[in-house]
Amino acid sequence: MKSLKVLLLFDLSMNLPASEYANYWNTPDWKPERDVKNTLTKLGHDVIPFGIFDDIEAFVKTVKEQKPDLVFNMSEAFSNKRDFEPNLTALMQMLGVPFTGSGPRSLQLCKDKGLTKIILDYHDIQTPKFLVAKKSQPVPSLKKFQFPAFVKPLELESSEGISQGSHVANEKEALARVKFIHDRFGVDAIIEEFIDGREVYVGILGNEKLSVFPPRELFFKEIPESEPKFATYKSKWDQEYRKKWGIDSGWMTDMPEATHKKMNEMCKKIYRLLHIQGFGRIDLRVRGDDVYFIEANPNPSIAKKEDYALSASKSGMDYEELIGKIVSLSLSAFESENATPIDRKAS
Ligand SMILES: Nc1ncnc2c1ncn2[C@@H]1O[C@H](COP(=O)(O)OP(=O)(O)O)[C@@H](O)[C@H]1O
Ligand SMILES: [Mg+2]
Repeated sequence: MKSLKVLLLFDLSMNLPASEYANYWNTPDWKPERDVKNTLTKLGHDVIPFGIFDDIEAFVKTVKEQKPDLVFNMSEAFSNKRDFEPNLTALMQMLGVPFTGSGPRSLQLCKDKGLTKIILDYHDIQTPKFLVAKKSQPVPSLKKFQFPAFVKPLELESSEGISQGSHVANEKEALARVKFIHDRFGVDAIIEEFIDGREVYVGILGNEKLSVFPPRELFFKEIPESEPKFATYKSKWDQEYRKKWGIDSGWMTDMPEATHKKMNEMCKKIYRLLHIQGFGRIDLRVRGDDVYFIEANPNPSIAKKEDYALSASKSGMDYEELIGKIVSLSLSAFESENATPIDRKAS
């Protein structure tokens, strides 16, 4: 592949001049960015790192002046607001610059954990039953809702707002947890049927033609059999806690062939229905032969040691090849989206 000028776009929690990036490259926080930057450089590309907090003019100016061939998009927020994640990709579309991963339509759709399930349920994909509890409206009646249930923020990520109290046994507990999410996080909540099953992550790569990577499973080895198991905020981010409860991801090995096949087909269907581009990870719960959709992650974490890249490498695709594929997929998506438009006036 020819050498490209790549703008590496990533999040900052404050505005920081590029001249100061050198102080951060070797910190653990910048590990994913470092992995991608080093790999793009190894692949022969010219990388311009660009961290963004809330200075949109600086971003537009850089794109216009530098004219990158591509933006490698690692941004998930703007001004610390995750709601704005899709907007940055919409801006890139309008600026006419290709970018890696999914565009605004998919990012917006996947953010809303109620809407995604309505769409997927319509297409016969097994999803937990749910009710949305908006901040601005009375909570819908839970009289007919089956417990135990699971209460989480409607639109947050990375298990934010998820703790032991998310698993609720009755209406009273559910209402208390909804109130907690409304008050503490200031966001809408979703109440879902609790799926007591294995937690599985499936990585997919592609635009039209899709490769499904071997599944990863999250294990809870030290949590007693009788306790409900799920990925809380602590279980994602607190190493001590993970160690204590034996929480770690690994390979899902013992799934019957037919279930595995069903799961892969289901994930491809989900990926397409939610307009994911380039690369994505589908989170599932598997109970016996039943596979339930939990959440879709367009632009999942692409750090070298995380589930997505590990799955790719298990299928024989090393990190360099993976990053190279993500780049080429974004260029081909851009080309097909910008193919000569039909001249509507002429027809
Ligand atoms: N309906 C559910 N049943 C059982 N566990 C769930 C359910 N919904 C979420 N969880 C647990 O909570 C975790 C985080 O939920 P998820 O919807 O993936 O949000 P996030 O975007 O924060 O990752 C999941 O990985 C899973 O362990
Ligand atoms: Mg998730």
